Amino acid sequence: MTQSVQNALPGLSRVGVLGGGQLGRMMAIAGIPLGLKFIFLDPSAEACAGSLGQLLQAEFSDVDAARRLAAMVDVATFDFENVPQETAQALAQIKPLYPPSKALGSCQDRVVEKEILTGLGIRVTPYHTVSSRTDLLDGLDKLGYPAVLKTRRLGYDGKGQAVIRDQEDLERAWQQLGDQELILEAFVKFDAECSLIAVRGTGGETRYWPLTRNVHSEGILALSLAGDFDQALQSQAEGIILRLLDHFDYTGVLTLEFFVLDDELLVNEIAPRVHNSGHWTIDGAQISQFENHMRAITGMPLGGTAANCEALMFNWIGHLPARAQILSIPGVHWHDYGKAARPGRKIGHATLTAESRQELAVNARRLAAAAGGMFPCLLNTIPGMNA
Ligand SMILES: Nc1ncnc2c1ncn2[C@@H]1O[C@H](COP(=O)(O)OP(=O)(O)O)[C@@H](O)[C@H]1O
Ligand SMILES: [Mg+2]
Repeated sequence: MTQSVQNALPGLSRVGVLGGGQLGRMMAIAGIPLGLKFIFLDPSAEACAGSLGQLLQAEFSDVDAARRLAAMVDVATFDFENVPQETAQALAQIKPLYPPSKALGSCQDRVVEKEILTGLGIRVTPYHTVSSRTDLLDGLDKLGYPAVLKTRRLGYDGKGQAVIRDQEDLERAWQQLGDQELILEAFVKFDAECSLIAVRGTGGETRYWPLTRNVHSEGILALSLAGDFDQALQSQAEGIILRLLDHFDYTGVLTLEFFVLDDELLVNEIAPRVHNSGHWTIDGAQISQFENHMRAITGMPLGGTAANCEALMFNWIGHLPARAQILSIPGVHWHDYGKAARPGRKIGHATLTAESRQELAVNARRLAAAAGGMFPCLLNTIPGMNA
């Protein structure tokens, strides 16, 4: 078995990953059975992917370390979106880096990202670029209240954002964020949030997983329900992501986060990587986002992206709930990332699978009750999931 996989992959068996977090860890869990070996570059000696391969401990800004990584591997990717462009480019000069550094760089700045989308004729949230307090006041005149002020760079899990509902919020938001380059967005009163994940192989073959409904709590993803939208919305989303795959000359997994408003999709964000909202694919799809990303970047044929069952993912943020209690619910798949617990930190998830939507709803309510906190409330916001 191992022999034939190695034969199918002459020279492409060592994968370098910039970043050693849970996404890198899940890439390795999917890639090791394919015969791949992993080396992670991460500033932390505790990086949770480290136990699945070799860990090169270095800052992401350490261009020499990236070159050393390049020398040790056959192909490279990243699990962290804020790898500096110089680091990515230095590595890409030595070994293939997928997704391409152009996609990585473009998605690091919310304004650049929106300009690219707009240039491709794709609808985005109305926005205004903010470099001064005057810009902010102009933006609020243009977009109205409420609005969301965000840093252009380095934001994640709702960090670096403030909702502005009135004059008082405005002052607070400016004090908090005013020393950085910013973007002001109209506050979208969306009907739902969803995401589409696509994968493209080196030969151009493209596949899409089913659209996933996402529920956030305080800016952090809490729940993802697979395949909860009709074919018209799925086709709309696929048409949008296809333009981006072409634009970036893309290889690997690409994710788009959308707001759904009156049956139309507005792009919220581009993530040039595997995505939290696709974790359900490990247990609920023919081939997961992680395995297909590995297949794509090493030139292997891609696998099917259809859902095998109903699937709902619960994110464990800040602490893990009682494992034995959660596992006693039928259809639960437990994923502990091996990270230290800290408030607001993603440290694991569970995916609930079921044969029918009805069975899913019954067990989801049990799971939400067992996990406690905000889960029962958040689950109730999903049509068909409330009691
Ligand atoms: N303009 C907006 N209107 C309404 N909700 C928003 C807006 N921007 C962000 N949000 C909410 O905050 C969440 C996180 O924001 P996002 O821009 O995706 O940043 P991050 O990089 O932190 O994921 C979104 O998924 C959404 O729930
Ligand atoms: Mg987001």
